[in-house]
Amino acid sequence: MPTPHIEAKEGDFAPVVLMPGDPKRAEWIAKTFLKNPKLVTSVRGILGFTGEAPDGSLVSVMASGMGMPSIGIYSHELYTSYGVEAILRIGTCGSYQKDIGLKDIIIGEGACTNSNWMGEHSLYGGTFSAIADYQLLEMAVDATREKKLPLHVGNILSSDTFYDYRPEAWKKWANLGVLGVEMEAYALYANAATLGKKALAICTVSDSFLFAKELSSQERQEGLTNMVSIAMDVAMKYNACRTK
Ligand code: HPA
Repeated sequence: MPTPHIEAKEGDFAPVVLMPGDPKRAEWIAKTFLKNPKLVTSVRGILGFTGEAPDGSLVSVMASGMGMPSIGIYSHELYTSYGVEAILRIGTCGSYQKDIGLKDIIIGEGACTNSNWMGEHSLYGGTFSAIADYQLLEMAVDATREKKLPLHVGNILSSDTFYDYRPEAWKKWANLGVLGVEMEAYALYANAATLGKKALAICTVSDSFLFAKELSSQERQEGLTNMVSIAMDVAMKYNACRTK
């Protein structure tokens, strides 16, 4: 126990972890949504907390940093050294489709990538399709419907770049029905698959490739709150299933 990038002790993490990119957001989520949140790690400013969800069950929140290498490190160490069973990524994404508005929720049923994340996995030239855990996916769809929030479920792109210098590249993915772009889900899903664990990415749309409207800070906050409350519901549903 402590791992190269996490200083928590054995038993410090709950079996289910909510994972935003930004450490400040992890702190805000822990202090807003959990009772008695305890800081369990802060290596490199990547904050992790464990506390009680509204139903009393234990839930952790830890930041992933940005991009696949970063979430790859933290998810691997949580899954392999801290007994974590399920990671729920919560983050923003850009929308690729005209019927998807700002603040809508996108759940990544699958993730494509322009990275070489699984390229060295001796698949004899084949490609790996990264998919969400179906149990978590179903729970998240139910939770979003219960809250009557606008929901899109499908493929997302986990991109290595935020600034892509090929202005038309995104259209190739959009034409394949990909809903939007973020930078982490593929690596998280691939690590979960490799290690026999569970993962799901829940995103709120922060920008669109088709229209130029920007979110106000109040709308941004609402989008974030909606996404966290869905993820917290999934965490509680998951905890309830494991204790049955
Ligand atoms: N690209 C990649 N990641 C993102 C974006 C984007 O446009 N918006 C929010 N996360």
